[in-house]
Amino acid sequence: MSFAEVHRENYRRQAKAYGIDADFVSAMVDGFYTKVRNDPELGPIFDQVIEDQWEPHLIKMKQFWRAIALKTGEYEGRPMPAHLKLKNVTKAHFAKWLQLFDENLEEIAPSPEAKAFFNDRARNIARSLMMGMFYDPDEELGVQA
Ligand code: HEM
Repeated sequence: MSFAEVHRENYRRQAKAYGIDADFVSAMVDGFYTKVRNDPELGPIFDQVIEDQWEPHLIKMKQFWRAIALKTGEYEGRPMPAHLKLKNVTKAHFAKWLQLFDENLEEIAPSPEAKAFFNDRARNIARSLMMGMFYDPDEELGVQA
């Protein structure tokens, strides 16, 4: 077994010990997007883009989170361009997104470690998306774009 395979095995074993499996990821994604769709601010933003394609979106998001938590290699998309095109999203929307994500985990996570595992990863990805969407180095430098 290569070093990378050993690492993946250990990572999966750790996730399993936290109670994280494909069934939990599925329940987490369903629960979270139910909250998102019912949210008066976030709901319309998602509906505008996703329209009647919620089923494929949920399938994709389950692949995304399984790829992260179980290292399944199922997701090869690029989140940044998908979010850069959302022009009406604000920093406050991200705070709300993370709040609902945490709220859902609080309700259904199989362990405190599982909750922390997903919250940490969601926050890191949110930070990186926010850097791409809201940070303009030229503005800091006082340079005209
Ligand atoms: C306010 C915050 C956010 C909003 C409004 C938002 C909205 C959306 C929307 C509308 C899409 C569908 C894009 C499309 O199909 O063209 C999408 C896709 C996606 N979002 Fe978010 N998102 C937010 C935050 C996040 C965060 C924090 C994560 C990760 C932890 C995330 C992960 C993804 C992924 C993986 C996709 C699929 C991208 C692809 O097509 O491969 N999003 N998001």
